[in-house]
Amino acid sequence: MASHTKKKRSDFIFGILIGEGSFSTVYLAKEINTNRECAVKVLEKSHILKEKKEKYVTREKDILLKINHPFFIKLYFTFQDEGNLYFGLSYASNGQLLDYIKKLGKFDLEISRYYSAEIVLALEYLHSINIIHRDLKPENILMNEGMHIQITDFGSARILSEEDLKDIDESTTSEKNLSVEEETAHAPATVERSFTRRHSFVGTAQYVSPEVLNSNFSCFSSDLWALGCMVYQFLTGLHPFTGRHEYEIFQRILRLEYKMPDDLDDCSKDFIEKILVLDRKKRLGCKEMGGYNSLKSHPFFADIKWEELVTCTPPLQP
Ligand code: ADE
Repeated sequence: MASHTKKKRSDFIFGILIGEGSFSTVYLAKEINTNRECAVKVLEKSHILKEKKEKYVTREKDILLKINHPFFIKLYFTFQDEGNLYFGLSYASNGQLLDYIKKLGKFDLEISRYYSAEIVLALEYLHSINIIHRDLKPENILMNEGMHIQITDFGSARILSEEDLKDIDESTTSEKNLSVEEETAHAPATVERSFTRRHSFVGTAQYVSPEVLNSNFSCFSSDLWALGCMVYQFLTGLHPFTGRHEYEIFQRILRLEYKMPDDLDDCSKDFIEKILVLDRKKRLGCKEMGGYNSLKSHPFFADIKWEELVTCTPPLQP
């Protein structure tokens, strides 16, 4: 009976602040009855209404409720009071994957491979239920007690309808509507662009795909592009596409201007090169290129036992 009643703020002891976004604050909280720890995301209603973000909040909740996989943050409960909305999430106690890249400078081949593989499994699942994350980056990959990944932040994610799926298949060169030169003339200040013919986009400059920059068109393959950027970052400690400002980063992305470090092994180079491809339909792992099986059978993952990833002990300590 108790599990069916809505929880309320006073059922919890709110602890330290563990995360902050433009529309939410996340606290570590303990449920008094059960002594269970969780992360409670608090969203201020007036702020969401003022900024017209209701749609995104609803979408995030719908998506979190749909996801049921060990490599993703879970939504346990929601409730609201007069001022706020509350999302009760699983608590990832070991911080962000980004913290570990910073701490170690970069990852060795074993750790890079390992976490790339966890992300691949997570994306395979996410895409199988027709969800695109659209803001994948090491800040949005949290680490749980056992140092497995917990992908979070579905504030920019989308669930694709049958109509969208058809659209994605049929659309070919829409991303070439704008050339690099035209982009130059209309330098966007941030990645957030106005809603034009497709859907609105919010993301992070370093991981944004060419198709999103060119035509604000995101697809499953846009998440693969972000994966390619992260694999590069794991192995080198650097972003593949850099610049003095966002606009320079965008130009380099659109021109596929990045340097493969000389000391990187040929297998890793080949893997990155096959993902960081301008044409979204030619990236390793996309449907047209053989899907996730082709990604998982690349020699980069030769040592990975895919069925054991979820239960094994990861090669990284907190
Ligand atoms: N920061 C934001 N969300 C979090 C979560 N679920 N666990 C730990 N830290 C977080």
